[in-house]
Formats: sequence, structure tokens, C-alpha cells
Amino acid sequence: MDLRRLDPADRDAVDRVHQLFELARATETPELAPVSASRYASFLEHPPPGAEFRCYTAAQDGALVGAVWLSMPLKENAHYLEAELLVHPGHRRRGIGTALLDRLLDLARDEHRSEIVLLARAAVAGGPPRSDAGARFLERHGFAPALTEIDRKAAVGAATADEERLWDEALAASGDYEAVSWIGRCPDEHVAGLGRIDSMIFTEIPLGDVDLRPRTVDAQFVRDREDRAEAQGNDLIRTVAVHRAGGGLVANTVLYAHRDETYAQQAITIVDPAHRGHRLGLLVKLANLRRLREARPEVTAVWTGNADVNANMNAINERLGFRPVDARVSYRRRLDA
Ligand SMILES: CC(C)(COP(=O)(O)OP(=O)(O)OC[C@H]1O[C@@H](n2cnc3c(N)ncnc32)[C@H](O)[C@@H]1OP(=O)(O)O)[C@@H](O)C(=O)NCCC(=O)NCCS
Repeated sequence: MDLRRLDPADRDAVDRVHQLFELARATETPELAPVSASRYASFLEHPPPGAEFRCYTAAQDGALVGAVWLSMPLKENAHYLEAELLVHPGHRRRGIGTALLDRLLDLARDEHRSEIVLLARAAVAGGPPRSDAGARFLERHGFAPALTEIDRKAAVGAATADEERLWDEALAASGDYEAVSWIGRCPDEHVAGLGRIDSMIFTEIPLGDVDLRPRTVDAQFVRDREDRAEAQGNDLIRTVAVHRAGGGLVANTVLYAHRDETYAQQAITIVDPAHRGHRLGLLVKLANLRRLREARPEVTAVWTGNADVNANMNAINERLGFRPVDARVSYRRRLDA
């Protein structure tokens, strides 16, 4: 077996890995949205600020039979490594997954990573079936489930009467706040506030048993993240809530909509704990949905993923029409660094 690191500049090789990923998605998890070739390539070309992405491939007789993607934070959380591993459906149970995982664990030791997380899909009640191969494989290799995130999807169409009622409810409860939306770059006056609220993310979202520590989002990070989205071909559609009296930015939500795709991906939504109970989560998400409709009328669905135990966010999402499709389970193993 030929194991090698994928060169992000080798577009043919990247496209082959994308085709493998799409083959597995279309045959095993067809309900999930396809990922365009351009977005797939852009993950490697433009990693998030302060992180390194890599992909290693496994080939046999010249044919691609497996791949592992990994992401390593470089500053805060430098103890952490997250990865996804895939073996061609026609080449399983022949040790290829184990060979890729061994390569990954060697690399993790070289990089002094002690917290290794691999992701596997799982079925949810009422959703389509999912194979348990990933879970069995990871348990066999000493990993244990640490966090379950439910992936939900909502159709985007014309606003319904239910949505209008929710919007009125959000407006009535949030009179002390103003929703401000933009696409792309954050206005200068909000950069510090956006960094402050995004710095709360890892202390505010449920992480189960995954050892991720708080991270500081400063103005440079905000700008680097925008540059990356632009380079990747993603529209960043954001709504924040500003406290009218104090002027502080106290809630934030963002959608990513890639220019080659007809669905959007919900990223973080966060409300400052000191300003909860005013329907701000609902307000910013609904305002952002309106902005999405105007800016990208061809988008037909939004996807979102939240910890199964995140009751507040899940309740808002259910009210907004999101329905569970499946789950992403983080399997964790500790290494002696
Ligand atoms: C999970 C996956 C990567 C395993 O790849 P693989 O090349 O088949 O794995 P290996 O041949 O190295 O399997 C090693 C051991 O894992 C366990 N295992 C793997 N697949 C299993 C299955 N379907 N059922 C039960 N045990 C399984 C077995 O103990 C196996 O040893 P054995 O074949 O001698 O019984 C592959 O099924 C896959 O790509 N699945 C879809 C993607 C995925 O779920 N990824 C998440 C895991 S990182």
C-alpha cells in the first residue's frame, strides 16, 4: 500500500479524493448535501486561521483506496487533533483503515498531540439508517464516544405564516436590541465586539468529553477568517444583535453559502449569557435567513449541527423548521504526549 501526503496544489489528486468522498456520500449517506469539487479543494488550500489541514491518501495498484483528513490547531488547543477517515466501499475489511489510522497516530505523536478525535456518522430516531462500521472500527482501536452532534436540515422557501409569527415574537421580546446584518467583511465598528463574543464559543457550547479549551478571537482572526471565506468562494452571511443602550455586540449568527452550491451551512450562533431571555437567538437567525433569501435566492436548504444536549439551540432550530437527518459522533482517544 502506498501511503502519501496529498499535495493541495495537485488538483488532479485532490479531485480523485473528492470523487472518493462523493462516491461514499452518494452510496452510504445520500441524504447529506454533496460537496462541490471547488469547495472540497478549498479546505486544503485555505485552512482556518491558526490551524493546519492535511490529507493522506492510500493507494493500491495505482488506485485510490482510502484517505484521512486531519486538522490541527497551531496556537490554542495545540494538544488537539481532529480527523476523518474513509476507505473505498469496495476495499474494506482489508486493513486499509488501520494502516491510515496508524499513520495518523504516528503523526499525532510526532506533533505532540494528546487529544485525538475521529468523527463517525450515526443514525438518529426517525432518520435514515447508518452503518456502524465507523463506530466498530474506532472502538476496536481504543476510541470512545465523547460528543454527539445532530445534523438538521431546513428547506428555504418563501417565508411561511409560522415564520412571520416567530419574527413578530422575536421583535416584541428584543426591543432593547437592534439586529444588524452584513455579507462578507465585518464593519470596522463591530470587529472588536465580534471577536469578544466569538471568544466565548468554546466555553458556551456543549463539548461533551472533548477536551477543547477557550480560544481568543482577535481582530486579526476575524479578518483572516473573512479572507479565507472569500478565497474559498464562500459568502459569509452574518447577523449580530447590538444592545441599543450599551452599544455592545451581544449575539452573533453566521451562514456560509458557497458560490457553487445551492445550500448554506449554519456555523456558530451565540448569545452573550448576560443578554439571554430576549429571543435574541431567534431574532438573529430569522434576520439572517431573510438576508440569505435576498442575497442567494437559489439556496434551497440550510444545514446545521448542534450537540444533542444543547436544548436551547435545538428548541430554536425545531421552531425554525429544522429536522434531524443524522448524527456526527466525536470518538476520542488520549495519547501520551
Ligand atoms: C470505518 C472504516 C474507515 C474502516 O475501514 P477498513 O479499512 O474496513 O478497516 P480495517 O479493515 O482496518 O478494520 C479493522 C478492524 O475494525 C473493525 N471493523 C471495521 N469495520 C467493521 C464493521 N463494518 N463491523 C464491525 N467491525 C468492523 C474490525 O475489528 C476490523 O478488524 P477485522 O476486519 O479483522 O475484524 C470504513 O468502514 C469506512 O470508510 N467507513 C465509512 C467512513 C467512516 O465511518 N469513518 C469513520 C471512522 S474514522
